[in-house]
Parts: sequence; C-alpha cells; structure tokens
Amino acid sequence: MKTISLSFIGFGNIGRGVARILMNKKQLFKEKYGIEFRVISITDSSATIWDEEINLEEAIMIKENLGALSGWTNEYEVFDFRPIDVVREVDSDIVIDVTNDPNAHIWHLQALREGRNIVTSNKPPLAFHYWELIHEAGKRGLSYKFEATVMAGTPIITLLQESLKGDSIEKIEGVFNGTTTFILSEMEKGINFEEALRKAQKLGIAERDPSGDINGVDAGYKATILHCVAFHPITFREIKIKGIDEITEKEVQQFLGRKQVIRLIAKVEEGNVSVEPMTIPKSSPLAVYGTSNVAIIKGDLGGEIVLKGAGAGIKETASAVVSDIIRTCLTLKNKT
Ligand SMILES: NC(=O)c1ccc[n+]([C@@H]2O[C@H](COP(=O)([O-])OP(=O)(O)OC[C@H]3O[C@@H](n4cnc5c(N)ncnc54)[C@H](OP(=O)(O)O)[C@@H]3O)[C@@H](O)[C@H]2O)c1
Repeated sequence: MKTISLSFIGFGNIGRGVARILMNKKQLFKEKYGIEFRVISITDSSATIWDEEINLEEAIMIKENLGALSGWTNEYEVFDFRPIDVVREVDSDIVIDVTNDPNAHIWHLQALREGRNIVTSNKPPLAFHYWELIHEAGKRGLSYKFEATVMAGTPIITLLQESLKGDSIEKIEGVFNGTTTFILSEMEKGINFEEALRKAQKLGIAERDPSGDINGVDAGYKATILHCVAFHPITFREIKIKGIDEITEKEVQQFLGRKQVIRLIAKVEEGNVSVEPMTIPKSSPLAVYGTSNVAIIKGDLGGEIVLKGAGAGIKETASAVVSDIIRTCLTLKNKT
C-alpha cells in the first residue's frame, strides 16, 4: 500500500469536490490502486491548517459553515501561511492547486524546486508560463498535471499526451467556454444578450464578473494550453481573441433562419491560435448546447476525433483532478 500525502491549496467548489471524492472512494482507491491518501494541509485565502492527517469531513463542514479556515481554532493549529510558505514548509508528495490565483506559477515553481509534484485546475499559470513549469518539473523528474484546465472532466490533455503518440496533430477546433454557448443558445430562443447573461448568472453558469468568459479570455487560456501540448509552448499574449459581446439578437436570429448558429470557436494550428465567434451549420459537431464543450482533433494518422463532454461543473472538474492525482501516485517510486 502506498500512502501519499497531499496539500490542498484552495478549498472552494473544486477543492471540496475533490476532497469528497477522496473520502467517498477511499476503499475503491485502496483496492484498485493500492493507494491511501493523507491530507496534511489545506489552505484558503484566510489561513492554512496543517497536521499529521486532517479529517476531510470536518474540514468541508467548517469551510461551508464558517466560510474561512481561519476560524477552525478548536481542533487544529491554524497557520498564517500563504501558498509560497506552504510549499516550502509542508512536506507533501503532491500539491493540489485548486485556486484561481493568477500568480500561482510563482509558488508552483517553488513547489517543484522543493521536490513536490503538482496537480492543478488553475489556467493562468499554464497559459503564461507553460514552458518554465514543464521544464522545471522535467528537470527534476517530477510530475506536473493539468487535465482539468481544459474541458474540465473531458480528458483532452491526456488524449493528446498519452493516446496520440504517433500522430502529428494538424489542427484542433473547439468550443471551450460553456457560458458563451449558454448565452448564444438562449439568444437563439429570442432574448437579448443582457437578458441571456442575467439568466446564466442566475443559474450559476456565469460568474458575477463574467468578463473573462464573454471576452474570450477563458477560451483563449484553454486554446493556448492546447497549443502548448499539441505543438510547442507559446503564451496567451501570442494569440488572437474576440468575444461575443457585440453579437446582437437580430444576427443570431438571421443565421438561425439559414440553419446556422454562432459559437465562440477556438482554432489551434501550429503557430496560430484564435478564439472568435463564428457561424457554423446547425449540423456541425461544433454546434453544442448548454455547457457542453467539444473539440475536433485532426491527426495525420488517426484523422478526425470528436471529443465532447462537460466543460465545467464541480463533479466533472474534480474527476479530472482526482485522475491526475492517481496517475501521479502511480508514478511515485519508493513510497510505502
Ligand atoms: N468550477 C469549474 O467548473 C471549473 C472548471 C475547470 C477549472 N476550474 C478552475 O478551478 C479553480 C477552482 O475553481 P472553483 O470553482 O473551486 O473556485 P472557487 O470556488 O472560487 O475556489 C477558489 C479557492 O481558492 C482559494 N484561493 C484563491 N486564491 C488563493 C490564494 N492566493 N491563496 C490561497 N487560497 C486561494 C479561495 O479561498 P477562499 O475560499 O478563502 O476565497 C477558494 O477556496 C479555478 O482556477 C477555476 O478556473 C473550475
């Protein structure tokens, strides 16, 4: 049996979703993979809890009832540690970054220098610092996994990295942002952009500040990461993005009359990445609805592969994080 120590950085929706899977599937992971997990630290923006083994059920309850880990003073010692202190001080096998810290690459690099493996669902570190992070991990023989950053639980990263080893990727086209798809499909029903956005916010599909989705930045981060995996490292600054905020209800209706829909399409070719609203036939595999994501991957040998699935959601995103954690564990040697 391998016992693997974990540090959670971030204990929001996805962090707690991952913790719930680790609790609920504890026995399965022991039997199937011979792995046991010991969570030794949890950090949110208020504090860090650090101990031999943290009770996850209680941690979830405290976070959901108090809102901040800093209030959990009766059972655990509460440390005033920021993520950079955690990766230096806490001796964990895997650091799980489930924050939305845009500067997390700084402590990812420090974690790698300290010999820790990383699993993350946080996009900006990869969209801006892919080469540095992967190079640092490779140099040290450590694992750096990020399946959840693109298409949440739909395993496009592993497909590109592990399955299509002999193919040269020619092109990837996809819809990688569920919020914009939801808004555009609501506009197809006859409501305007503002009303569709308000509905998305009410249903929890769009965030309170939806600008990153609407202006194409979120899809751009994902397209950048895909380019790095399928071709060679670039940064978000090298790609072209255009959002959906100028699309009118009238345009949407006109195209619908011609059996076409508008979607925020990402195109990823070697040295050329763009995200922009495009019209596509209603019959195209890219014409997704709701919060589904889709990618068409074209390889020189395998031809076209269409991958479609959830592009967001707590359970779905946590599924990808947990897969990455398990795959990391399976590569760890000398663990008992
Ligand atoms: N939700 C999805 O469907 C989805 C899908 C794919 C990828 N992702 C990505 O997964 C990540 C987590 O998403 P989420 O929905 O769980 O977000 P969330 O609910 O807002 O949780 C973010 C967590 O990170 C913590 N945090 C942020 N900055 C921090 C810092 N500098 N130091 C310590 N803790 C920090 C927050 O602390 P507080 O609790 O104290 O605020 C919170 O616990 C994001 O990067 C997101 O883009 C999410």
